[in-house]
Amino acid sequence: MHPAKARPAHPKEHRVVLSYFHKENSYTLEGYEAEGGYATLKRLIRDEKEKWTPDAIIDEVKRSNLRGRGGAGFPTGMKWSFVPKDSPEPKYVVCNADESEPGTFKDRFMVEEIPHSIIEGMVIAALALNSEQGYIYLRGEFYKGWERIEAALKEAYAKGYLGDNILGTGRKFHLATYRGAGAYICGEETALLESLEGKRGHPRLKPPFPAFKGLYASPTVVNNVETFATVPAVFRMGAEAYAKLCKGNEKSGGTKVFSISGHVQNPGVYEFPLGLPLSEVIEIAGGLRPGRTLKAVIPGGSSTPILTPEEVEKAVLDYEGISAVGSMLGSGGLMVLDDTTDLVELTYRVAHFYGHESCGQCTPCREGSRWMSDIMHRVRDNKAIEEDILTMLSFTTNMVGGTTICPFSDAAVMAVTPIIKKFRPEFDARLNAAGINAR
Ligand SMILES: Cc1cc2nc3c(=O)[nH]c(=O)nc-3n(C[C@H](O)[C@H](O)[C@H](O)COP(=O)(O)O)c2cc1C
Repeated sequence: MHPAKARPAHPKEHRVVLSYFHKENSYTLEGYEAEGGYATLKRLIRDEKEKWTPDAIIDEVKRSNLRGRGGAGFPTGMKWSFVPKDSPEPKYVVCNADESEPGTFKDRFMVEEIPHSIIEGMVIAALALNSEQGYIYLRGEFYKGWERIEAALKEAYAKGYLGDNILGTGRKFHLATYRGAGAYICGEETALLESLEGKRGHPRLKPPFPAFKGLYASPTVVNNVETFATVPAVFRMGAEAYAKLCKGNEKSGGTKVFSISGHVQNPGVYEFPLGLPLSEVIEIAGGLRPGRTLKAVIPGGSSTPILTPEEVEKAVLDYEGISAVGSMLGSGGLMVLDDTTDLVELTYRVAHFYGHESCGQCTPCREGSRWMSDIMHRVRDNKAIEEDILTMLSFTTNMVGGTTICPFSDAAVMAVTPIIKKFRPEFDARLNAAGINAR
């Protein structure tokens, strides 16, 4: 059993989405129903005509302040409200389970351990959007997760939570899985939709946004695994109660699941109320190893700008709190780095990842991300000169702010240049002392 599952909740955690995550049979229908699973769906579908109309469901999600947990933090209820209700096209509900952001591993565990929460959340979304078909797009490497989701779907069909006649109400909603083939870009929602249509995973220009023209050019809602898994909890608790779990910030509702890795003593998957001080969260994850000092924290997955210890001290772990110190909450992939970290090596690895994963559609991204990787390779190997770093800091300004179809390029730059700017002496110390650029 994975340590993230075996570890009991820390007293300062507040497990709402992961409330039954640690139980042996959490991934079975029996295990989920024993925790009150699908009771929300039953309630909503029973009272659909009187109380829980599509608008009422969307309003409740809006009032919960639930924001998308896939990285951008877009308000979920608002996204659902964009889907045109009068459209004659079919409407699709798509779960983004492609999780490939370095440092993020929460979705994988939710897919493996609490698949029925995701399914229930998707059926509730289908009620809100009047959708009859949904897909779960899974990262191909999540083989165990795929097996668990497939088994959960079978159980949900057998029990009437999915199918042509959900719980005897005449409502129809079908769900199927689709496995990706290991491309990070397929986590970007429009690339995901292309891939789901059987094409190469290239992002699409927006607008039109998926809410209007998504899968097969029909209205589509794409949400992250955690977002869907949170929806039943919102209705179970009530929107206001869920929103209030966040400590002191109205815009960031509820709790968030974090993958904490790096130099903490108890790395793993945690769920906290939003709004805790970042330094407290590091302590909850066991703190640093004895005798070590903090060098930096990457707060939300590799694409989010690195924080110095001074910034960490000021940071509050919610969307606004992290943006106030110049970074992003992202997907909640918190990487803690102590004084043993070689930041030049780390930056090279990260740059290499983005250089490898660029889909190649847009020139600034295709060329720029590989140049970053090449230059960082030389810096790491003591073969670069100062001009290399200056060149990189210059051309990366052409990779951001809308010069490309999707934000991959911005993400690649945010992953690399803040480290160089904030920790420049470490990079300068690795330059070729002879001043010769060895290409
Ligand atoms: C390069 C790139 C990779 C992404 N990868 C993921 C991913 O693996 N999982 C995910 O949920 N969102 C990912 N996103 C964000 C999605 O495009 C989209 O915003 C998200 O699935 C919407 O769900 P949410 O509103 O519930 O967060 C990625 C975005 C970009 C630009």
